Amino acid sequence: MCLTRAALIGCSASCPFFEHRVRPGLAQYTAGTARADVGGPREDGDMTTYHFYTASSLDGFLADPEDDLGWLLSRHFDEKGPMNIPDFQAGIGANVMGATTYEWLLAHGGTDSWPYEVPTFVFTHRELAAVDGDVRFVSGAPSDNRAAIESAAGDRDVWVLGGGALAAAFADDGMLDELTVTFAPVLLGAGRPLFGGARELRLREHAVNGEFLAARYEVLGPREA
Ligand SMILES: NC(=O)c1ccc[n+]([C@@H]2O[C@H](COP(=O)([O-])OP(=O)(O)OC[C@H]3O[C@@H](n4cnc5c(N)ncnc54)[C@H](OP(=O)(O)O)[C@@H]3O)[C@@H](O)[C@H]2O)c1
Repeated sequence: MCLTRAALIGCSASCPFFEHRVRPGLAQYTAGTARADVGGPREDGDMTTYHFYTASSLDGFLADPEDDLGWLLSRHFDEKGPMNIPDFQAGIGANVMGATTYEWLLAHGGTDSWPYEVPTFVFTHRELAAVDGDVRFVSGAPSDNRAAIESAAGDRDVWVLGGGALAAAFADDGMLDELTVTFAPVLLGAGRPLFGGARELRLREHAVNGEFLAARYEVLGPREA
């Protein structure tokens, strides 16, 4: 069973629904086939680009109130279709996520099947279980960690996986350039919010992929009241 994963994560060999996530992206990473408009190695020495790429319910939740993602993982998403994860991941040099997202990954993949090969920065105030992979626990504001994150990413981009409050903190610190959301055809009514603040956006790209409506936005300044 290779479930959607479309908008969340990556993969590991031992977890079936991770299977087609990270490794296809890495194959493209090493082959250097990243799409220029969604990342890929920069050639101009420009600043690091930060992407918040995620799936959401149509009413703006990343997870239900119990952090369940069954509503997401049961949907069809074509890994080779438009705005897919492997193409996106080909341009990513470092990941960023909050503690809840990290704990969800551990609960569903185990500590010995970490799905990412690029360095991952996990924001937490706690001492969390370690994994067999390049995971760096950090705290403080995103800007406090900017140098370390960008150094780890090298000439590639940064993927902010979530949650929504952490993504908003990155935006507040001027460290969020793009928001890509794949909307699942469901209304959850409650749960973990997509974003923790108000922002203006500019639509850059949209597509239908499987059961999902995907949209990529440029993140602009704070929304005027
Ligand atoms: N739909 C999708 O594609 C998608 C994508 C990503 C995540 N998710 C899911 O959505 C949910 C997100 O959970 P969430 O809203 O709780 O967000 P989260 O960002 O994953 O976790 C929030 C936690 O991260 C820690 N944290 C955040 N900022 C910090 C900072 N500056 N310094 C230190 N620690 C910091 C805090 O934990 P502590 O203080 O307890 O350490 C905070 O409670 C999860 O269930 C995840 O699995 C879904």
